[in-house]
Amino acid sequence: MNKASRKVASPRVVCVHDFRPLARRRLPKPVFDYLDGGADGEVTLRENCRVFDDVTFRPRHAVAVSECDVRTRVLGFDVSFPALLAPVGYSRLMHPDGEAGAARAAGAAGTAYMLSTISGHRVEDVKAASSGPVCFQLYVLGGRDASEAVIERARVAGCAALVVTIDTPVAGLRERDYRNGMKELMSGSLWEKMPFLPHVLARPAWIARFWRDGGLSKLPNVIIPGQGPMDLVDVSAALARAAVTWNDLGWIRRLWPGPLVIKGVLTGDDARRAADAGATAVVVSNHGGRQLDGVPASLRALPEVVAAVHGQIEVFMDGGIRRGTDIVKALCLGARAVLCGRAYAYGLAAAGEAGVARALEILRADVERTLKLLGCPSVAALDRSYVDVPAHWRCVDA
Ligand SMILES: Cc1cc2nc3c(=O)[nH]c(=O)nc-3n(C[C@H](O)[C@H](O)[C@H](O)COP(=O)(O)O)c2cc1C
Repeated sequence: MNKASRKVASPRVVCVHDFRPLARRRLPKPVFDYLDGGADGEVTLRENCRVFDDVTFRPRHAVAVSECDVRTRVLGFDVSFPALLAPVGYSRLMHPDGEAGAARAAGAAGTAYMLSTISGHRVEDVKAASSGPVCFQLYVLGGRDASEAVIERARVAGCAALVVTIDTPVAGLRERDYRNGMKELMSGSLWEKMPFLPHVLARPAWIARFWRDGGLSKLPNVIIPGQGPMDLVDVSAALARAAVTWNDLGWIRRLWPGPLVIKGVLTGDDARRAADAGATAVVVSNHGGRQLDGVPASLRALPEVVAAVHGQIEVFMDGGIRRGTDIVKALCLGARAVLCGRAYAYGLAAAGEAGVARALEILRADVERTLKLLGCPSVAALDRSYVDVPAHWRCVDA
């Protein structure tokens, strides 16, 4: 066991919440806030986590469940438990292990990793690093030609699914990032960076690791024809032109023959449109509270989406998953699986790949224990009868 693994296996990390203060201690403030923060007043960010408290369990006691089956099947592949790793942009800022380390940990844990377009590792390298399924998350960055090229690279590399994020017509206003000068730090001149450097200089160990890793100045999965990899300086402006419409989804569906996931759905209407556009699955998601503040918590939007698609496509959810009980509640409300974002990214920031592995180990053990305490033999057997929801939620029941 190496030093990082020993640290995260210590009693300091009992649940994934314990990774957050470790991440805060290791990362410069602007990087920690980029990971931790949300849009505007962060109402949706907070609500994503809080809403799980509104759902309570209805256990069946005196039922002997010595073994329980937490495996499931998503998008045509098997996973060891119903939690996949959500796309998290700029993971290489959190730790040099970055996207490749997270994917390796996911594969070792028997689950899938979703690689963001905004990543510091090449899709081919991330796919090769993992023994499990890797999905590619697409932003139409740099125009259609650049997107066609990366979709083809993802297909040739053997990615298991394409995930198209539809909730970013513009980037949300992440106030912490503005105050911390994240844009200037990522792509400004030395003069522009100057006022924000003290926070970075306060974490010399992070600086040393970051420079040893070669820094991060380009996006290796966004190749602009005739120019090469997109420069970080150009990302904000490119994102503002990267809005995806239902018409674009027709074009993407024709390019990608495999499972197609549409991420960022919050209403039954959009879920049905996604099914009509040929999606294999939707992710009920508000981007972890980082886009439109004031939209409902994902868990709250989940029952409406599940009812709207009538089992025609798979429904995943993300937002606020920090414990195995959260995963089980989402499954009881109809999700096939959940995506975890910050739950593993705090682990990555705290201890690289070993931190992600530990986060997944904790969540998997949580799910197994929760099923046994509920008196339920398998995740496939979970349904609404195992939970109570507040009375006003019932208006969207199936
Ligand atoms: C630091 C960070 C970066 C993210 N980058 C992306 C991204 O590049 N593409 C994307 O579709 N979603 C991105 N997301 C959203 C996640 O995929 C996911 O929807 C969200 O983190 C779920 O909420 P949770 O963090 O509470 O689990 C990002 C989230 C975080 C925290």
